[in-house]
Amino acid sequence: MTSTLHVGIIMDGNGRWAEGRRLPRSAGHRAGVRTVRKMVEYAPKLGVGALTVYAFSSDNWRRPPTEVRTLMRLLETYLNHETEHCLKQGVRIQFIGRRDRLARMLVAAIETAEERTKHCRALTLRIAVDYSSRDALVDAARAMAGSGRFDRESMKEALGTEDLDLVIRTAGEKRLSDFLLWECAYSEFVFTDKLWPDFQPSDLEAAIEIFRNRTRKFGGLVSKAS
Ligand code: IPE
Ligand code: IPE
Ligand code: MG
Repeated sequence: MTSTLHVGIIMDGNGRWAEGRRLPRSAGHRAGVRTVRKMVEYAPKLGVGALTVYAFSSDNWRRPPTEVRTLMRLLETYLNHETEHCLKQGVRIQFIGRRDRLARMLVAAIETAEERTKHCRALTLRIAVDYSSRDALVDAARAMAGSGRFDRESMKEALGTEDLDLVIRTAGEKRLSDFLLWECAYSEFVFTDKLWPDFQPSDLEAAIEIFRNRTRKFGGLVSKAS
């Protein structure tokens, strides 16, 4: 089993989870954070080397300001509480997405988490915040224009991300919502109706099992997913 599997998760359904329980949407987001914690703990045991989680899309700014505030606050709390734990587990924390629209305190927490965990190798937890893949591609194109190098390798470098082996989306939706478009070129997709707060380590394990039973061909005729 390779330990370099790169899994992306579009964590969806926090709102519906809360609404189903007649709770405020914020309760769903808090429950969603608990799921993230469980996944981070479990992922390395399943051969995952990098886990990219979609936490806040650039289009999520369209939500009511109170919900946006809740999400931002949860993110900061997560970093303040979990960085130490991640450090102990050997989890490297990285962020992708714009930082110029985030609160200064949050940016400081992001930078501290990235700096403190940069030597960790058991798992890379990449959190996408104020992230838009289209914007990331436009920025990368701009960087390439600056360097005068236009090829796949330069694009990969400019994006600073890796290809995804597997993308999981919860809550029954079957779309990418502007998540890592370039990096998904040959990803396998697993969709589940489970809402993100209900998603368990066993569901991650099941999704990886499905992935491992798929035949990846990359346009050719061979090779099993591994
Ligand atoms: C995912 O849950 C969290 C974010 C997108 C920030 P949602 O908040 O999208 O939950 P639903 O789709 O309304 O159920
Ligand atoms: C995608 O979920 C973004 C995140 C998971 C952070 P959304 O709930 O915002 O996506 P749409 O609006 O249903 O496409
Ligand atoms: Mg949603």
